[in-house]
Amino acid sequence: MTTAPEFSFPRYLAAKQSVDDRALNRLVWDRLAQALEQPRATPPIQVLEIGAGIGTMAERVLDWGLLTKGDYTTIDSQAENVAAARTRLHGATGDLRLTVEEADVFEFARRPAEQGRYDLLIAHAVLDLFHIPTALPHLLRTLKPGGLCYFTINFDGATIFEPIIDPVLDRQIEALYHRSMDERITDGQPSGDSRSGRHLFHMLPAAGVEILAAGSSDWVVYAQQGEYPADEAYFLHAILHFVESTLADHPELDRAAFAEWMAHRRRQIAEGTLVYIAHQMDFVGQLGGKEADR
Ligand SMILES: C[S@@+](CC[C@H](N)C(=O)[O-])C[C@H]1O[C@@H](n2cnc3c(N)ncnc32)[C@H](O)[C@@H]1O
Repeated sequence: MTTAPEFSFPRYLAAKQSVDDRALNRLVWDRLAQALEQPRATPPIQVLEIGAGIGTMAERVLDWGLLTKGDYTTIDSQAENVAAARTRLHGATGDLRLTVEEADVFEFARRPAEQGRYDLLIAHAVLDLFHIPTALPHLLRTLKPGGLCYFTINFDGATIFEPIIDPVLDRQIEALYHRSMDERITDGQPSGDSRSGRHLFHMLPAAGVEILAAGSSDWVVYAQQGEYPADEAYFLHAILHFVESTLADHPELDRAAFAEWMAHRRRQIAEGTLVYIAHQMDFVGQLGGKEADR
């Protein structure tokens, strides 16, 4: 039997970095880069990244040359992730001044000093955790008029594990997993959306954002010559951990069959035969439209 490694959220986020690097939609990224080339009324650029985890997007923004200077603030509510972000981002910033803060994003967005302050708001693999129509107006309040938003890796209704083990059980597990996202309650409020990607096409304009570009950013994880790149075998174990912890004891699932399915999937990771695909979408938008207004 293949045992699962111990789950660590910071290690999962670090393992996700190479998966995200492949997944991010380059046309959407390029459209953001183009929008950032427009002159701003009050340089230096002010960037806010919410739910920034251990800071991999800030690293990417630097490594891929999206920004070389400005003020970049990351916030996250989990102390463990914030501590990892402080370590990772320490000294790696050049002229991009980084501030790493532990805060709840909604508490942060309510502070008068943070309202109307930012040129760019980033939420990477985050928005689908919230009830987006309720969350968006609060989050967008941090932007200047005409400010940009870059909302990436928004889950959109497909979790694919190949090869299929049992078509009926595989479909049931996917459907129950997605349903758990749609029925999730956080702090007494509905949160999560298993089809957030497609819904953002309506929800962004409803919140006053003009979509400048959108496209798929699917996670596609597979082994070559039996080996997964970087720490992606761990990433796959973490995905299975999320499925297992969400569906353990689900009344509609046969407990023994689910346990065997999990064990089978873990063996597939060890053998390098598991392929995992998650359909997701990226967006770049502008509050109120018209880049020239900034
Ligand atoms: C799926 S992780 C993504 C992290 C990071 N953006 C990345 O992709 O590596 C979601 C992050 O959002 C943070 N988060 C969730 N709810 C939050 C809230 N209300 N305020 C601040 N951070 C939050 C979590 O602590 C977690 O680090």
